[in-house]
Amino acid sequence: MSRADGAGMMNGMEQQDPLDGRRIRLRPWRPDDVDDVVAACQDAEIQRWTQVPVPYRREDAEGFVGLVAEETRAAGGALFAVESQESGNLVGSIGLFPPTDGFGEIGYWTVEEHRGRGLTAEAVGVLTEWAFSHRGLHRVELHVDPANAGSRRVAERAGYLAEGVVRKRFRHRGQPSDVVLYSRLATDPPPREVSGAGSGGAAP
Ligand SMILES: CC(C)(COP(=O)(O)OP(=O)(O)OC[C@H]1O[C@@H](n2cnc3c(N)ncnc32)[C@H](O)[C@@H]1OP(=O)(O)O)[C@@H](O)C(=O)NCCC(=O)NCCS
Repeated sequence: MSRADGAGMMNGMEQQDPLDGRRIRLRPWRPDDVDDVVAACQDAEIQRWTQVPVPYRREDAEGFVGLVAEETRAAGGALFAVESQESGNLVGSIGLFPPTDGFGEIGYWTVEEHRGRGLTAEAVGVLTEWAFSHRGLHRVELHVDPANAGSRRVAERAGYLAEGVVRKRFRHRGQPSDVVLYSRLATDPPPREVSGAGSGGAAP
């Protein structure tokens, strides 16, 4: 039996239920993900476009799947490993940062070998719908560098609307940077093909 926020109890510990899409599953991070996260985060694109530490070390991954995930959850957000339903392999990382005032922001990266198959757009769709239905958010944002063509396409495919360029409002690697502000409202129609067939154990 799941709680309204998609969490269940197991061994006296509160667990985040996995969220199922058609081809991917979003599940809580585990200590045995560390090797895969270290390997994935050596990728130049992930280091270029996300806030991961550079250089990326094993202790960064240990902190991320452990304390950072725990603190994010305690603050009302949720970090997930994205895994392939077919192979169980790690496809990527996606998270809802702790929301304020009823809106939140999603961030993501995908392992290089799993890109280009629509899996990230699917994961964004699944997490967005969960944020609306289980966290009661009315708005979810994506902040994307204007030059990050892949991530902009992911946003559009997941049904997000570009509201405009926010100029030099955020810092990236110490530099004031522009971002394209994308949003989806709970009242927007979901894009059918990426919304995920079901939400697995996350059903209210
Ligand atoms: C951006 C990123 C997440 C895209 O992952 P992905 O799994 O390849 O994305 P998807 O397969 O879901 O692609 C969705 C769409 O984007 C397109 N796309 C993906 N990468 C692209 C690129 N580099 N240039 C142009 N289009 C791209 C796909 O072709 C697909 O288009 P379609 O809807 O017309 O079929 C991945 O390249 C990545 O991890 N980059 C580094 C980290 C990053 O940028 N994170 C986001 C920070 S805001």
